[in-house]
Amino acid sequence: MPVVNRIASMKEEITAWRRDFHENPELLYDVHRTAASVAEKLKAFGCDEVVPGIGQTGVVGIIKGKRWESGKVIAMRADMDALPLEEITGLPYASKIKGKMHACGHDGHTALLLGAAKYLCETRNFDGTVVLLFQPAEEGGAGGKAMVDDGVMDRWGVQEVYGMHNQPGMAIGTFATCPGPMLAAADSVSILIEAKGGHAAKPHLAIDPVLIGSHIVVALQSIASRNVNPLDSAIVSLCMFHAGTAGNVIAQSAELTGTARSLTPQVRDLLEKRIVEISEGTAKLFGGTAKAIYTRGYPVTRNHARQAAFAASVAAQVSGKDMVNDNVTPVMGGEDFSYMLESRPGAFVFFGNGDTASVHHPAYDFNDDAIPAGVSFWARLAETAMPA
Ligand code: NI
Repeated sequence: MPVVNRIASMKEEITAWRRDFHENPELLYDVHRTAASVAEKLKAFGCDEVVPGIGQTGVVGIIKGKRWESGKVIAMRADMDALPLEEITGLPYASKIKGKMHACGHDGHTALLLGAAKYLCETRNFDGTVVLLFQPAEEGGAGGKAMVDDGVMDRWGVQEVYGMHNQPGMAIGTFATCPGPMLAAADSVSILIEAKGGHAAKPHLAIDPVLIGSHIVVALQSIASRNVNPLDSAIVSLCMFHAGTAGNVIAQSAELTGTARSLTPQVRDLLEKRIVEISEGTAKLFGGTAKAIYTRGYPVTRNHARQAAFAASVAAQVSGKDMVNDNVTPVMGGEDFSYMLESRPGAFVFFGNGDTASVHHPAYDFNDDAIPAGVSFWARLAETAMPA
């Protein structure tokens, strides 16, 4: 069963919505225009209920099937926020807002779920209830958590939840998922080094925080290679090193900032413990002090095995079995859909964006050719999970 014909015929309309979102990117929870547009469309399609303001600026749409005696309730989630990035695509529908762009395809995700909403409102060929979740603040603001904390799962009796993200480099019409961890826990690390400033020509009278920081950077790389089981995954990336004001002055202090990624709670605990120990111990070794602050961010995006297999089977209905990878290798990016998967069984799915620039790149653009398969996936997910 390929792409749904009715959905293929809606491609132009959905593309227009997508490009409108693209031209008008909004950040984090400040997605007022996007959320208003989503709510207005959901009402126009005939959703049974449209509730804005969930998780600050999230929007929920409810569609009841022809029958809903089964009592089944399936949620589908899209993210609405953009990134603080200057677009360089030069496209006719490029961002109209300086310093903001949809560089992760959330414009596309929102348009896909709206397309599915329109189709499902028209056809209602399922026995149960679809809960559409349009969330703010995926890019670092934990908008998914905000919606869960606002009671979205309990309020509408959600039983399973699904999310989807485009992947540049995967062919149009392809899908990928896996049982268990699919994306990493994304934690932040900040290390404040205090030493003793002085004249660069009299290093023996000073304690050099740059030297201490350099040793810390190197020593932290031993965690992944010497503390973590080689069959587990871990990343410690120090991405910022700030110190000093002049070429002939030994600084008083230095600051390292980075990220730590893991796929299991055990490795996550180990990373936190070793980063603190190594930073503080190394600074002490050279006569300074270091305070390592480990802040937990998005948890692991962990798919539930049954729901991941089901999502893969739905994707195979849409695109054919050979277009679906049901055991994709996890990636070490983070996703706040993880909070929804901690709240309810479900699965996250990648779908192909074709040969485009990578997400978070200023030349990235969501590929509108992914619309028919993406929307069909959502529609078939509802119809297959809750057959009429
Ligand atoms: Ni994204």
